Amino acid sequence: MDKILLIDDDEALGYSIKRSLADRYLVETADTPRLAYEILHNTPDISLIFLDIRLGDSNGLHLLERIKKDFPDIPVIMITAFGTSDTVLESIRLGAKDFLTKPVNIEDLIEYIEKYKKNKRFEICGNEYVKVEDVTSKGFIGISKDIREVLKIVANVSPTKTPVLIVGESGTGKELIANMIHKYSGRRGAFVPINCAAIPRDLLESELFGYEKGAFSGATASKPGKFELAQGGTIFLDEIGEISKGLQSKLLRVLETSEIEHLGGTKKIKLDVRLVAATNKKISELMDENLFRQDLYFRVSGVTIKLPALRDRVEDIEQLAKYFINIFAKEYKKSITCLNKKVIDILSSYTWPGNVREFKNVINTAVMLADGKSIEPEHIKLNLTENDPGYGRETDFNNINEAVESLEKEMILNALKSNNFHLSKTADALGISRVTLNAKIKKYGIKIKG
Ligand SMILES: Nc1ncnc2c1ncn2[C@@H]1O[C@H](COP(=O)(O)OP(=O)(O)OP(=O)(O)O)[C@@H](O)[C@H]1O
Ligand SMILES: [Mg+2]
Repeated sequence: MDKILLIDDDEALGYSIKRSLADRYLVETADTPRLAYEILHNTPDISLIFLDIRLGDSNGLHLLERIKKDFPDIPVIMITAFGTSDTVLESIRLGAKDFLTKPVNIEDLIEYIEKYKKNKRFEICGNEYVKVEDVTSKGFIGISKDIREVLKIVANVSPTKTPVLIVGESGTGKELIANMIHKYSGRRGAFVPINCAAIPRDLLESELFGYEKGAFSGATASKPGKFELAQGGTIFLDEIGEISKGLQSKLLRVLETSEIEHLGGTKKIKLDVRLVAATNKKISELMDENLFRQDLYFRVSGVTIKLPALRDRVEDIEQLAKYFINIFAKEYKKSITCLNKKVIDILSSYTWPGNVREFKNVINTAVMLADGKSIEPEHIKLNLTENDPGYGRETDFNNINEAVESLEKEMILNALKSNNFHLSKTADALGISRVTLNAKIKKYGIKIKG
């Protein structure tokens, strides 16, 4: 039940209002500012205040000013015996929402309460919420001990030329870290990433080292390799565990001599390239199976940075959530200011097989679904893991409208099913009117059974 505070020195009025509204609202009454403040401090969830402009000896406007300062989120309606006057206008200027004239009519009271009462869920972040303040990014979000440790290493190793190997499950932020290492290296050349798993094995060598015209069939012109493109900068060998044994030997030689030769060429090219590599495979296992050269491993792992899985650093969940909510809220032009604490619990107890990448997708969807100022548990769709058909939703669409429409259709279908195709119930569950629901059913060509 919504709680209303009536501040009026007319005790009889207070009593009668309290009685008339008893079955709809919990009405607290105060006949002095002191008592009003006591109630406000002890009852954090007051939805609306009625305040008499003339309050015995004390001035209602002063109290209004103080209330607006100390409890800015609670709407205040003034009660006045004199209709429009300068005082009423002044009270509106000071932040009152509206005014009622005495004698007070119960119907009017109810109308005003319903019109102006604070929507607890959306307008403020109550006790069950945390505020979504701006998380300013220094590139890599995280406050956990493990991440602080990682960032310390990044800061120390970046300005050196030491090769860095970044290990961690998929989606833990390896590429982001590689980027940071380059950024903080002060190296003027480019950051050149190459995903060794994405390029067919027999093409990888020419991609890395470049080739001369006629080096192989199809080589109609000479082309520089990624190492050359990274001259003076950083090459990022992603998924280094995927490199064939043959190419591993050549790579080792290049790293040892700091020189390359184009395929089909003889000229040696001197390199000044910082190497950063990443893998989500356990290199030690690859070495046990004789699939990865130990000498190459030692070459690339001057410093190893291990990125922990998201499930092992729940302390970072809240910050990551705020960070991504900010990003997507901006993108979708929504103002989301509150995050339900239950959401943090839900996000913290999930296993995140896709780590931060999956987390980011879940928050994207949640922000898209949010219809008010808060992210609620029902906005969190955790089934979007890599193994689920819905995965990749974020990128499979050409624009936001398409994505929203697809999600909307899916939600309507699910709601129809779970409400046994009862239209009013479905509309209620979705928080839209029946007319709107009907229009959408038509728009999406949804067939209603029965
Ligand atoms: N700590 C973080 N702070 C902010 N964004 C992050 C963080 N970690 C990861 N991300 C974001 O998550 C996504 C996945 O990160 P990234 O591509 O770096 O992962 P990865 O470890 O290289 O994954 P894979 O092994 O699948 O290639 C990116 O959009 C990245 O920006
Ligand atoms: Mg990656």
